[in-house]
Amino acid sequence: MGHPGVLSPVSKIWLDGKLVDWSAASVHVLTHSLHYGVAAFEGIRLYPRGDGRSAVFRLEDHIGRLLDSCHICTLEPPFSRAELAGACLDTLRANRMTEAYIRPIIFLGDGGLGLGSRDVPTRVAVAAYQWGAYLGEDGVQTGIRAKVSSFTRGALNSAMSKGKISGQYVNSVLAKREVMRAGYEEAILLDAQGHVAEASGENIFIAKHGRLITPPLSSPILAGITRDTTITLARDLGITVEERTFARDELYIADEVFLTGTAAELTPVREVDDRRIGTGEPGSITRRLQETFFSLVRGAAPTRHAEWLSYL
Ligand SMILES: Cc1ncc(COP(=O)(O)O)c(C=O)c1O
Repeated sequence: MGHPGVLSPVSKIWLDGKLVDWSAASVHVLTHSLHYGVAAFEGIRLYPRGDGRSAVFRLEDHIGRLLDSCHICTLEPPFSRAELAGACLDTLRANRMTEAYIRPIIFLGDGGLGLGSRDVPTRVAVAAYQWGAYLGEDGVQTGIRAKVSSFTRGALNSAMSKGKISGQYVNSVLAKREVMRAGYEEAILLDAQGHVAEASGENIFIAKHGRLITPPLSSPILAGITRDTTITLARDLGITVEERTFARDELYIADEVFLTGTAAELTPVREVDDRRIGTGEPGSITRRLQETFFSLVRGAAPTRHAEWLSYL
């Protein structure tokens, strides 16, 4: 497999404070994080906008969550909040990007393989590459088929779900592979009590009788930035949003289901466990929120929430 995205040979990656060639950004096989998964990462998008400029969406919030993830997994980042945000912008500028998926990662390098080893450096990389609609352009337009996974989202005191921590993604990868092998596009995970938690890399919303419902942050879910954006935009539109737990069968009888995430953006779900959702086509609330979301991230100057945009 090649590297993700289409990159020219002159592409740069920001590594430990310097921009280096894409091919030089490699690590030793005894990298601590490779073995045990203690690393914090983010996924952020740069969008080209209707006014001809490009802006990163909610950069400050993503850097804030990156630092929270480090705090949760006891990583001490060797760069400040401003330096980390600057590293993202520098990487985009160095690669002359107008549209990108940005992947910062803070990890433990090599020099010791004990679980509690303290002699390993904390390292930082930022890569940026092109990545289209994660669940497919078709998925965004017509909706995807999802399946509830046999894997459970980690219980509250084992998985640290508020952190975007590398090792925890084994659970997501297994769930995703399981359902893809069975012919579905995305996995939905339940929590240990059987409530719907989230998808393998997205938060989940249902619409019922004109109201939106999404699991609360007290559930074992990531505090998705697109989830927060969606709740804010829905309330701006006068749509009631309830944050509460719900069961698998509430998914089946929902009028609409959709997923939110930086990679997947706002993707409708047209089927869950081979049961059609609503009419089988993206519903009106999903459509309105998609339009509002895409015009916010890609449109000309927004009238609201301009504070979420960091122009290049
Ligand atoms: C497990 C999980 N849930 C939810 C999300 C959505 O979060 P965000 O909207 O901040 O990208 C992601 C992606 O980051 C994720 O990996």
